Amino acid sequence: MANSASANSPFLRNQWYTAATSEEIGDKPFARMICNEPVLLFRRTDGSVVALEDRCPHRMAPLSLGEVVGDEIQCGYHGAKFRGDGACTLIPSQKDLPIPRGFGVRSYPVIEQAALIFIWMGDVAKADPALIPEWVGRNTADGWKAVYGYHHVKGHYQLVIDNLLDLSHITYTHKTTLAGPGIDETPMAVEQEGDVVRTSRVIRNVDPAPIHRAIKGFTTKIDRWQLSEFRAPIYILVTLGAELAGTHENLQQPTHLVINSATPETDNTTHYFWSVTRPFALDNEELSKRFKEITTLAFDEDAAVIEAQQQRIETERTGAALVNFRGDRGGVAARRVVSKKLQDEAAAVNAVAAE
Ligand code: FES
Ligand SMILES: [Fe+2]
Repeated sequence: MANSASANSPFLRNQWYTAATSEEIGDKPFARMICNEPVLLFRRTDGSVVALEDRCPHRMAPLSLGEVVGDEIQCGYHGAKFRGDGACTLIPSQKDLPIPRGFGVRSYPVIEQAALIFIWMGDVAKADPALIPEWVGRNTADGWKAVYGYHHVKGHYQLVIDNLLDLSHITYTHKTTLAGPGIDETPMAVEQEGDVVRTSRVIRNVDPAPIHRAIKGFTTKIDRWQLSEFRAPIYILVTLGAELAGTHENLQQPTHLVINSATPETDNTTHYFWSVTRPFALDNEELSKRFKEITTLAFDEDAAVIEAQQQRIETERTGAALVNFRGDRGGVAARRVVSKKLQDEAAAVNAVAAE
């Protein structure tokens, strides 16, 4: 997978994946495929979120076709009921018999944080909440205001990661929203610290992009900067700043952050969750609307190119690999981190199997 978008790439299991926005989950069954596994989400009466395998262990009907009854899900086929921990509590047609031992569904750990729901797809004992990137909390932190969005992308999740680590595409893909002069002429710095990969660029004394005019009212030359931080396997924080040209030597205060997670749905499709959070004009509803509109438009453009790219990758018949430009160093480093983690995870599984 190091330098391709293989159709058979496995996924890291011992990771938190963004499963849904808080808003999406209520007291009705909500079905979503995550890392090739069908998952059912719903809220119990106390508001806590449950994630279960969306496959009834009786005849394998999707449990999401059933009904939430109190704190349980009842299968819509023959009525078996399951608790949030996956245990079966009722088989209506054989109430006189004990529930067969081991008859239940898999339950996944979930955490609701910063208006998002995270799911742990691997070993329950390893589900450490501290492994969710801390900057996700900026969505709901004091002094910040976020808008949220979701794109379903028919492309491998690493193509979304590549996209966010090489923002030189802004010039060509986002002509009406984010593009401005000087982006691909300005060298991008790449650094890696352990498993964290960062790419960045500071662009001085350039005309503002449409987004800067819309959200900050800039009409004269600005300094703008971009920093993308990758946390394996699916998270990218993009920090964006703009101010009047020459205001500061070191640019510090961002105009906004884009917090992204690219959760694999299947081998080659992705649930792309994003939020744009800002530290100014918090109560300005009109501005929130503008941020949501511009970002939705821009990410529609990303999704279109990634989906077309995925198709071309899948229909390539000569075995040619992707070619790396200088701007791909971040994406390549991120793929390397994921590959290494996949190897480590596979080695740990093999070691347990050999015991
Ligand atoms: S398939 Fe669910 S109870 Fe029969
Ligand atoms: Fe983009």
